[in-house]
Amino acid sequence: MKKEKKIHRRKRLMFPPAVSAREVAGLFLTAMIFVLVTVVEIAITYIIKTTIDVNNSKNIYKFLDFIPVVIGLAIVYGLGKFLAAKRSVHFSAKIVKNEKVRLSEHIQKLPLNTVKKYNAGELYTTIHENMLSVEEYIKLLPGAIASPVIILMTMAVMFWYSWKLTLVCIISIPVPTLLFGIINKPIEKKAADNQDNIGGVNYLLKCTIEGLDIIKTYHLFDMFSSKFHKQLIKVKDKSLEIEKIKTKASPLNFFLRIFPQCVIPLYCAYLAMRGEGTIGLLPAFSLLIVNIFVPIETLLRFSTKYRETLSPMQKVEELYSLEEERTGGILPLIDSDSVVDFSNVYFAYSDVNVLEGITFSVKKNQLIAIVGESGSGKSSIIKLISGLYEDYKGSVKVFNREVCESDLSELRKQIAVMTQTAFLLPESIEKNLLYSVESYEEEEIAKAMTMANLNEVINKLPDGSKTILTERGMNLSKGQRQRIAMARVILRKAPLIILDEATSGLDPLSVETILNSLNVLKQNHTIVMVTHDIQLASNADEIILVHNHRIVQGGSHEELMKNSMYQSMYMIQN
Ligand SMILES: Nc1ncnc2c1ncn2[C@@H]1O[C@H](COP(=O)(O)OP(=O)(O)OP(=O)(O)O)[C@@H](O)[C@H]1O
Ligand SMILES: [Mg+2]
Repeated sequence: MKKEKKIHRRKRLMFPPAVSAREVAGLFLTAMIFVLVTVVEIAITYIIKTTIDVNNSKNIYKFLDFIPVVIGLAIVYGLGKFLAAKRSVHFSAKIVKNEKVRLSEHIQKLPLNTVKKYNAGELYTTIHENMLSVEEYIKLLPGAIASPVIILMTMAVMFWYSWKLTLVCIISIPVPTLLFGIINKPIEKKAADNQDNIGGVNYLLKCTIEGLDIIKTYHLFDMFSSKFHKQLIKVKDKSLEIEKIKTKASPLNFFLRIFPQCVIPLYCAYLAMRGEGTIGLLPAFSLLIVNIFVPIETLLRFSTKYRETLSPMQKVEELYSLEEERTGGILPLIDSDSVVDFSNVYFAYSDVNVLEGITFSVKKNQLIAIVGESGSGKSSIIKLISGLYEDYKGSVKVFNREVCESDLSELRKQIAVMTQTAFLLPESIEKNLLYSVESYEEEEIAKAMTMANLNEVINKLPDGSKTILTERGMNLSKGQRQRIAMARVILRKAPLIILDEATSGLDPLSVETILNSLNVLKQNHTIVMVTHDIQLASNADEIILVHNHRIVQGGSHEELMKNSMYQSMYMIQN
């Protein structure tokens, strides 16, 4: 089984998955250009040999006949070299670009609980950094394909010139080649170990950049620097080990080149003395032997790269083997009176239940508030409604369809979610407002901005709604970001609106505005709102109190005021 897997992996690596038939044809065409260049080189050795041998026979003007041919060959040679190099680079860059796009699309389609098992640094390393190694590998591929043809072709010509001299030249090749393979074998394992180290570096970098405010506030420079330093040393040490192996193998290249170059003049002179060869053999063989050891070196370099690339490709394969979120399913019944219906729902992210026996329902155009202590499971309920997790027990119906049987894409189109942290792109505020909106009219934007109390924010910015946000909207305050997210939810015009801590970070005036907006939205939308703000919750048609992963009570604000836990939450806030 293990062996089968390995063979499968190697097959995928030889023919990377994103390669189209046209690109494979392009790859072989590039290899053929390498071969063509060799044909030119062989032709030139023939001309040199013939010219020298003819000169020897006193017909010194014979070489003039070759001048037009040599010019023609030189043009073909130059063009061929240029084209082969250009196409190799182009081909590898294109394949790797396609592969990265495919991989990131695949990751977007994975279920949330699958992706959460990986840290961001590891995913970044697999999608981007590992691909640099794959790109290098593919760049060598056309040359490697052409190499055996070049070697065979050159040898045939050498044999034709002098089989004895050829045998003497190639006798030294097998030993260093074999040794090269043996010495380089551990590279594969070491490259695999270094993948994890590089992933660790990327992860630490991400943490450092994202948590810079905390690092500064708590003066965590030493701790982060020392962790980063240790991780970089691990990468450096492993890279050094790999380079050491490569260095150990490099003298073999020397033997591969030097031995034949020493032997050729000696043996040529010997053959000439015996009358078994001409003096023209010397330059011809000196040039031809290059066409033997350069392709051998290409193949050896290729095999080293192959070992280094196996591990990155294995990681890529691992990601591809993860099953994507299912597509298709039953369409939601948007006109149904039952919008959300939980019945005895149990749910766990790993082993421990975070929801236990949850039962509640939300009818069309109702405003429901979910309140409860931190970590009690409120956001988890919201995630089940959006179909982000399907491995729940019990029944979760949204728009009268079981979520785990619903068409998730269609279901999500009917829901506008505002999460605890507003997700903003580094684009203009206007684009951020509209990126999930299919159709809109200008006055709808103005209305949504008023309802989310966003006008006040935008009017203070020099470029207004055209202001470009920095990464994650960090050039705005948390409350300002929340207001953009709120306006976006309104613009999406989805029948079900889900708000998870929509008012956290907002000033009382903005909370008041949002509250008024919710009362307007309620007329045409169903709203599920998670909040710690009891004042806000008290406006809901029904409040659900979650404690220790269970619903302890549901009802109106007045009914819940009889519950001691709710009462104390209310008292603390008032
Ligand atoms: N992706 C996750 N993987 C594993 N456990 C998780 C994950 N998300 C949440 N949890 C755990 O599930 C429990 C419920 O989390 P949840 O986010 O639903 O709480 P919450 O009521 O929304 O809390 P808060 O008011 O702080 O937002 C918590 O114990 C939390 O640690
Ligand atoms: Mg939460």
